Amino acid sequence: MSNGSRPRIWRHLWPRSLWPRSLAARTALVLLAGLAVVQLAGLAIHAMDRIAIDRTEIERAAGIRVAGIYRSIAETDPDERDAEAARMKLPPGFHLTLTPGPDIGVVNPVPPHMQRTLRVTMQMVPLPSRMRPTHVHIGGQWFERKYVVSLHLPDEGRWVTVAFRLSRPNLLASPTFPIAFTLMIVATGLLTLWSVRRLTEPVRTLAAAAEALGRDVNAPPLPEDGPLEVATAAVAFNTMASRIRRFVTDRTLLLTAIGHDLRTPITRLKLRAEFIDDDELRRKFIADLDELEAMVSATLAFGRDSANREPMVQLDLAALMRTILDEAIEGRPEMARQIGFAEDPPPVPIRARAMALKRALSNLVGNAIAYGGDAQVTIRPPNDSPDGRFVAVLVEDNGHGLQHPDLDRVFEPFVRLETSRNRETGGTGLGLSIARNIVRGHGGDIVLTNRQPHGLRATVTLLA
Ligand SMILES: Nc1ncnc2c1ncn2[C@@H]1O[C@H](COP(=O)(O)OP(=O)(O)O)[C@@H](O)[C@H]1O
Ligand SMILES: [Mg+2]
Repeated sequence: MSNGSRPRIWRHLWPRSLWPRSLAARTALVLLAGLAVVQLAGLAIHAMDRIAIDRTEIERAAGIRVAGIYRSIAETDPDERDAEAARMKLPPGFHLTLTPGPDIGVVNPVPPHMQRTLRVTMQMVPLPSRMRPTHVHIGGQWFERKYVVSLHLPDEGRWVTVAFRLSRPNLLASPTFPIAFTLMIVATGLLTLWSVRRLTEPVRTLAAAAEALGRDVNAPPLPEDGPLEVATAAVAFNTMASRIRRFVTDRTLLLTAIGHDLRTPITRLKLRAEFIDDDELRRKFIADLDELEAMVSATLAFGRDSANREPMVQLDLAALMRTILDEAIEGRPEMARQIGFAEDPPPVPIRARAMALKRALSNLVGNAIAYGGDAQVTIRPPNDSPDGRFVAVLVEDNGHGLQHPDLDRVFEPFVRLETSRNRETGGTGLGLSIARNIVRGHGGDIVLTNRQPHGLRATVTLLA
């Protein structure tokens, strides 16, 4: 991916390797990041709320305890109060002393709401009016959550001083909180992934359609429904596909028409050539005209082939190749030993147009035999290819191979190399262009390479 594919500032913050390639993954990532921020904000608000509620709860409980302790002392006879104080079971973290004065230590400001909560809750413990404390002092270290409450006993001079420490609100104490949080994260995450996959589905469909079109111009059109943008893209794609189709048909028609029209003048020329007196000249004339006629026939055959839309079928490439080799041997029985598989292939199922593919592969085998003197075929099943999608067919010979520029040039229509320009080898120079046309029409390709020490290798790749 190019640098421009993601915002500049991100480049420094985000390691390249962590930025996913797929549109779905990128969209999901951005959405999830946004969701996480929203979730965290919500969580913080919720947590603050919870903490406030928890704190009040804790303060109330403390207030009630303080009042309870005070009542126990106040209800006891003044003489026995010391003994009672020593005997009394106090909640953990609580300290009780009977002091001559309000012993609340260094008085730090206690938040007013805290004062209020303590006072209000202390009144919740019912006390006969003669026992009510005449004075109450509250002090503490708010930050350390330490508090001291001193209450003046009405029937003697002493004070009941209760020191205690408040526990901290704990968010994780209740299981609902983490469970709800996890559920929310998982649910939103799954929902995001699912919807992003659904939304990016059309992009994958479009890519698949483009690939199908490369294999077969007559591939079925895309459905033109779905969201507006997707439908628009589908319509544009289908329009493009039909233009390509028309372009191809027009060209083929033109080719066939020219070929057809050339036949008549060639026949006329042949008739007229008969009147040439010079035997040698007449022979050459007629040979040239024969060659011309062969070219025209080949062109017409090619046009006919591309016009008839052979359907894609499931077939066994190994079996097809075996038929081709058998037919080649039938044509040249004396070369039976030089024609065959390099090693016997297992069945290789592929989808292809049987007749067309047979023609393409026959052309290669025919060339190997005609120009190389032998034909050795190897089929490499898809699991041997790097991404497991392609089957390779190698057609090899031990001839002279080709000069470097000719490896490409021979694919051009009517190109035949001077050395092979003898009638015996036949051919019109259309074989390779037809073969490549057919193989490309299957989404594959043909490449020629020289072999060591000598010979030519035609490598055909086909989609499995
Ligand atoms: N296996 C081969 N070894 C050497 N030359 C080849 C081989 N296959 C093809 N050629 C060269 O490529 C030319 C074009 O081949 P092709 O398109 O099949 O046409 P044709 O066989 O009708 O001449 C051939 O004329 C030949 O010169
Ligand atoms: Mg040929």
